[in-house]
Amino acid sequence: MTEITEDMIFECFAAARQGSDMNATAESFVDVEEYENQIMYPEFARWAQQAGYPKLATLFRKVAGEEKLHAVWLRELYQRMGTPARGEDTQRAIDALTTIRANCDKLIGMNPEGVVEKALRVAIRVEEREYRDIYPHFRDQANASDNPAAATVYQKVIDSEHQHANWFRAALQEYFAGAPEPAMA
Ligand SMILES: [Fe+2]
Ligand SMILES: [Fe+2]
Repeated sequence: MTEITEDMIFECFAAARQGSDMNATAESFVDVEEYENQIMYPEFARWAQQAGYPKLATLFRKVAGEEKLHAVWLRELYQRMGTPARGEDTQRAIDALTTIRANCDKLIGMNPEGVVEKALRVAIRVEEREYRDIYPHFRDQANASDNPAAATVYQKVIDSEHQHANWFRAALQEYFAGAPEPAMA
């Protein structure tokens, strides 16, 4: 069976991604949250379902729903601050969904188990980056520019992303414990 790498997972989603995250701004993270809500976690859920992990699929869908909430919080914050709305990145990702699914299906065909394991690892990496680096940075910036209301919103996102990372770490442990999930009716 083909060894699946995290890079292969990222490659699946390449069509949705613009260049790099180099110019990641607080505002651009509305789109990142939308991307996780509409593209990444629903795809991971679909893969888990296909590979016979319905419980994990449910977890991915639950987290997807919370990412939507993050986008809502951030959008409300930026509206109050008078920051113009974004959404072009999200639209491009949605347009690329057919390509993304075809890429992913090819990977699943090669090694469904490997795809599920690496999806979990990618999810952990994404969440860790957000709760350890990205949002603390935005929060500190907000505090430095005397905007405690914004800092509070970022802290709320940090706490939520931290919880996501913990859920995914537990799910990966369970995956390796090899407890087979009960078959769906
Ligand atoms: Fe999020
Ligand atoms: Fe998250």
